[in-house]
Amino acid sequence: GTAQIGVTGLAVMGRNLARNLARHGFTVALHNRSVERTRSLMTDHGTEGTFVPSESMADFVASLERPRAVIVMVKAGGPTDAVIDELVPLLEPGDIVVDCGNAHYADTRRREEALREHGLHFVGTGVSGGEEGALHGPSIMPGGSDESYAKLGPIFESIAAQVDDVPCCIHIGPDGAGHFVKMVHNGIEYADMQLIAEAYDLLRAGLSAGPAEIAEIFRGWNSGELESFLIEITADVLAHTDATTGKPFVDIVLDQAEQKGTGRWTVQSALDLGIPITGIAEATFARSLSGHADQRKLAARTFAGTGNDSWMVTDRDAFIEDVRKALLASKIVAYAQGFDHIRAGSQEYGWDIDLGGVSTIWRGGCIIRARFLDRIREAYDEQPDLATLMAAPYFAKAILDGVPSWRRVVADSARAGIPTPAFSSSLAYFDGLRRNRLPAALIQGLRDNFGAHTYRRVDREGSFHTLWAGDRSETGGAESAS
Ligand code: 6PG
Repeated sequence: GTAQIGVTGLAVMGRNLARNLARHGFTVALHNRSVERTRSLMTDHGTEGTFVPSESMADFVASLERPRAVIVMVKAGGPTDAVIDELVPLLEPGDIVVDCGNAHYADTRRREEALREHGLHFVGTGVSGGEEGALHGPSIMPGGSDESYAKLGPIFESIAAQVDDVPCCIHIGPDGAGHFVKMVHNGIEYADMQLIAEAYDLLRAGLSAGPAEIAEIFRGWNSGELESFLIEITADVLAHTDATTGKPFVDIVLDQAEQKGTGRWTVQSALDLGIPITGIAEATFARSLSGHADQRKLAARTFAGTGNDSWMVTDRDAFIEDVRKALLASKIVAYAQGFDHIRAGSQEYGWDIDLGGVSTIWRGGCIIRARFLDRIREAYDEQPDLATLMAAPYFAKAILDGVPSWRRVVADSARAGIPTPAFSSSLAYFDGLRRNRLPAALIQGLRDNFGAHTYRRVDREGSFHTLWAGDRSETGGAESAS
């Protein structure tokens, strides 16, 4: 075979990845379960580069040069397993199977192990940037072996988004590392979007402004510290008018947010690892809450009139600036939590993930690309073992500068009855980390009282238990710690 890389699964993401590869001079083998997709790709885009279309999986595999590199771009879960099962018997040791779908990292670990038995490399790869990104330059997060990266790296680095001539692709780490990082990327994406949505809700209520006016505020924010893809498209969506009704588009969309599951996976994994990604969790739950139409209807009826749902802001510019600062501070919390999560996953699975490297490849191509990712990279360059991003000089300054605004926004929205789960939980997280003493001490006391679960003391080593039902004397200490 002559093709340097192949793509099987030619729905829009696979199709655009294949075109991106061909446009960069790679000879691309093509395959799709139903041949119409392959044919239409050839008809519509066959002249963009060198494609080798095949109608059967066997011909597709035969069209590839060895060691073969096959990108699988089908639905996560069962469909991915089905394609792998069909491919494996046709491949030879040293060949590489690349899963570019949004797979769960645990599935990727399982598949990597299974294919390793056959002498095959399995590379779970996170690809972010949607359809446009896939075609014009996504952010690429490959896992898998060093050996497979030696072949794939140059290919992926050339088709990835480039920022300051640096490709948005690095080898994340072995087996499931790439899909893990993509999962956390999506968790941060959920938090970012929820924060933006809350900011919009606050501005709309506080300023009694229409979506078009708020679009202008976001447009302005996009030329400052908040500059990011999501802020940019927020302005676009808010400014859009529905063609059939002439109403603002955002007012004719049903207010129930859906999800395909990556945010949920992020939260599940963080619970297992014991990492408080509270902003991401609130964002995920906020989507679920929005979908519970019956509960919302009943609550709206039962509790009508208990919130104001709007308040008259007197100093409009000061209020807008408060919301901007609260948004920035909360966004810093979301990224700090996401990077904590990646570090914990890396430790748990021995992936040795370079956090600075991750922030580098999220600067372009991906959905959460933002100006301040450069600052995250700087923070980890200066201090790779930084305990929390919030403490890096740039972010600490932004947070300190924003704290009064953050408190005002959360307090005022609570008073007005406007829910800000992500803003307020991010502030609570900040205060939780910052506070000298936490009531966790009382929780330990209660646990010891009802269950003899023991506690540690501030002044001595060891674990202790108070005889609550007896004379309330204390037992334990360093020597009897069990
Ligand atoms: C990306 C996105 C993408 C994701 C969609 C939809 O990085 O390009 O994260 O992979 O599938 O954003 O996600 P939800 O349906 O869960 O919102």
